[in-house]
Amino acid sequence: MSRIAEIGTDLDRAAKLLRSGELVGIPTETVYGLAGNALDARAVASIFRVKERPSFDPLIMHLPSLERVADYVTEIPAAAVKLARAHWPGPLTMVFKRKPIVPDLVTSGLKTVAIRVPAHPLAQELLKKLDFPLAAPSANPFGYISPTRAKHVQKQLGAKISYVLDGGNCPVGLESTIVSFTDSAPLLLRKGGLTIEAIEGVLGHPVEFNTHSSSNPQAPGMLAKHYSPATKFYLADEMESSNQLTQELERLPSERKAYLLFGETTVAGCTDSRVYRFETSDEGIITAASSLFATLRELDEGNYDAIVASLAPERGLGRAINDRLRRAAAK
Ligand code: TXA
Ligand code: MG
Repeated sequence: MSRIAEIGTDLDRAAKLLRSGELVGIPTETVYGLAGNALDARAVASIFRVKERPSFDPLIMHLPSLERVADYVTEIPAAAVKLARAHWPGPLTMVFKRKPIVPDLVTSGLKTVAIRVPAHPLAQELLKKLDFPLAAPSANPFGYISPTRAKHVQKQLGAKISYVLDGGNCPVGLESTIVSFTDSAPLLLRKGGLTIEAIEGVLGHPVEFNTHSSSNPQAPGMLAKHYSPATKFYLADEMESSNQLTQELERLPSERKAYLLFGETTVAGCTDSRVYRFETSDEGIITAASSLFATLRELDEGNYDAIVASLAPERGLGRAINDRLRRAAAK
């Protein structure tokens, strides 16, 4: 395809493309997805190709409602139903044991499948028009920052797909939280747009966080290095304990460095002109989450030698923000 993807709000066009096995960029309230028919192995294969995603990294299947989930999974535990009733549609993905109808390619051969019911009105309308689920990873090249605007998708994947459905700026701005229901107790696989506090509030007990090895990740969004800008990325909090990082950074001219800071954090040598500052009130953190990825992209495109970020308070969405910042800074 030599033309660049068009951006528009034509749901029928998006549905038609998807029915014919093509991929479409779609808005969700978390991030934009690169969607294809989850039951069409050829469409799913092209998702991996377009995204340059390793085949061991399974995809999330998107459905319009909880009612449709039973078609694809062998069992929905009572606790999952409770969570779904409270937080679907929304920024929550749940992993279940799958039925054979789910193609191996979607789940990378796993006997489980990740399912999400997104809340974005355009995603909802689109899913209701279709008689198949949509497999949709975040619509970024593997390892890069997830897209939260239609133009992010167009810029990075526009040469490989023909249409991006424009749903505006993604209001949550961080990928969905993933909870697995395939063992005896629910397990948190990825921190994301639904807070742990909200999940534990519904379940009525603490949820364990999966700490598996990153060489055999259950959720490769959990790979140590992920969500990364191309520009060198430093965590202010890590520099405090590393002379080497501090010296590395001090050698760069100050106009070549940009900063993304929370609250009152100060970093030696930084001047106000290149600082994005987020507030640490509950409202401020929600705003920070929704603009984090767009801000990182802007800084990444700003031709700096380094981006320095400080961490958010470790509560609510701050946990997911910090997770993404730590992975972006991972070597
Ligand atoms: O918010 C989101 O979840 C976005 C929007 C588009 O829905 N999607 C998204 O997809 O973030 P992706 O592919 O970038 O991340 C999906 C994560 C991966 O880390 C993958 O390993 C994990 O979900 N995953 C998928 N199927 C799984 C399974 N059966 N078991 C465990 N993890 C799974
Ligand atoms: Mg992703």
